Amino acid sequence: MAVDVLIGLQWGDEGKGKIVDYLAPRYSMIARFQGGPNAGHTLKIDGQKFVLHTVPSGIFNEGMLNLIGNGVVIDPITLNAELSKLNALGIALDKSLFIARKAHLILPTHRMLDAASESAKGAGKIGSTLKGIGPTYMDKTGRNGLRIGDLEHPDFKKQYQILKEKHLRLLEQYQFDYNLDEIETEWFNCIELIRKQNLVNGEYFINSILQRGEHVLAEGAQGSMLDIDFGTYPFVTSSNTMAAAACTGLGVAPTKIRDVYGISKAYCTRVGSGPFPTELFDDTGERIRKEGAEFGATTGRPRRCGWLDLPALNYTIMLSGTNRLIITKADVLSIFDQIQVCNAYNINGVSVTEMPYDLCTTRVTPEYESVKGWAGTTLNVNEIPDALISYLKYIENKTGVKISLLSIGPEREQLIELENLKIFS
Ligand code: GDP
Ligand code: IMO
Ligand code: MG
Repeated sequence: MAVDVLIGLQWGDEGKGKIVDYLAPRYSMIARFQGGPNAGHTLKIDGQKFVLHTVPSGIFNEGMLNLIGNGVVIDPITLNAELSKLNALGIALDKSLFIARKAHLILPTHRMLDAASESAKGAGKIGSTLKGIGPTYMDKTGRNGLRIGDLEHPDFKKQYQILKEKHLRLLEQYQFDYNLDEIETEWFNCIELIRKQNLVNGEYFINSILQRGEHVLAEGAQGSMLDIDFGTYPFVTSSNTMAAAACTGLGVAPTKIRDVYGISKAYCTRVGSGPFPTELFDDTGERIRKEGAEFGATTGRPRRCGWLDLPALNYTIMLSGTNRLIITKADVLSIFDQIQVCNAYNINGVSVTEMPYDLCTTRVTPEYESVKGWAGTTLNVNEIPDALISYLKYIENKTGVKISLLSIGPEREQLIELENLKIFS
């Protein structure tokens, strides 16, 4: 009947995987709508950790349908590795995983172009995950791309050759060594396995679920500050990461969208290059990284850490019409007596709460307010310390959005439904 959308409100890694896994039983289907294997969504169930890159985070819920939508870009090699792991866990993928034919394919040469383009950028590099995301979306908008549905055509190999040769000509412009043979063989082996999955016309598939009166949760990847239009351009990813992208990335009408869940950590992180106004370069940043185990789920790179940035948060809440906030990793801040929150930027001596046109060229100095911490308290789901309640209320007041869920640890159960608590209802 309705689609709820869940997105990251910061620079990615807000804990989307964990929250989708938790919310999944309320829906019939979980659908990824953009991004690709640049995403790393971590789920921790009974002490076991799973990282998903392309497969939706509903896959561990029995009976759930999971759709990889048309807006996603798929690398057969990464997807196949993921499917093998899930198969080994006994998950019945034939009943639970569906792939939209209109999703675009990441070719081995897309990955090479990504790497060549990044290394040519030198100091100005984006810090891409090097999964071939940018070049694949470029071929999509350039109308050169290959799609999952093309796998069913007898002349697929010919289409592949044409695109590959185009890429090889582009690669000649770079000083970049590569060996295509090995990865190409693996890619074609994986293609055979992807062909055997449930390939569907995703737009009809999802709309038929809605027509049956059932609900779908659309799972965003990356974060709103990495959005191709509204993020810290050019230090962004190559897709729209905001809630509106769920419509085009799945083929559902805007009138079908109901709630927009937006996730934010209780602080901020970013992995890769680009502006990050509240970044901490001192021991405090290091303590957050250590306490929060802030290392990328896809690349293992250390994440840059900083305090919560309310101008950025309010911006991304506005862009997606977020009406339900979810705060994660509150437990990580349990090491601090005082917590800083940026509630304005100082630009040339003027205090502003709006995002400037370009964070890359505008010098912003965060203006902080100090909020009392709950140092020394080990958080548990039965009791929230007063200082944390005050911190959450502070965020609600500054954003004007109710916090629905509070996550206090990586495990599935380490979550508090604030709507059930009188003080937050
Ligand atoms: P995603 O990309 O948004 O799904 O997030 P990632 O999986 O990349 O990164 C989030 C990390 O934080 C993962 O390692 C999660 O297991 C972990 N995590 C999620 N929620 C919490 C939480 O409330 N507390 C702590 N300490 N870790 C969390
Ligand atoms: P999830 O879904 C955090 C970042 C990269 C780089 C920039 C462009 O796990 O939150 P790309 O590979 O897309 O060309 O990289 O975007 N990035 C992410 N950062 N979480 C992600 O996904 C990310 N996906 C891409 O680090 O700065
Ligand atoms: Mg991640």
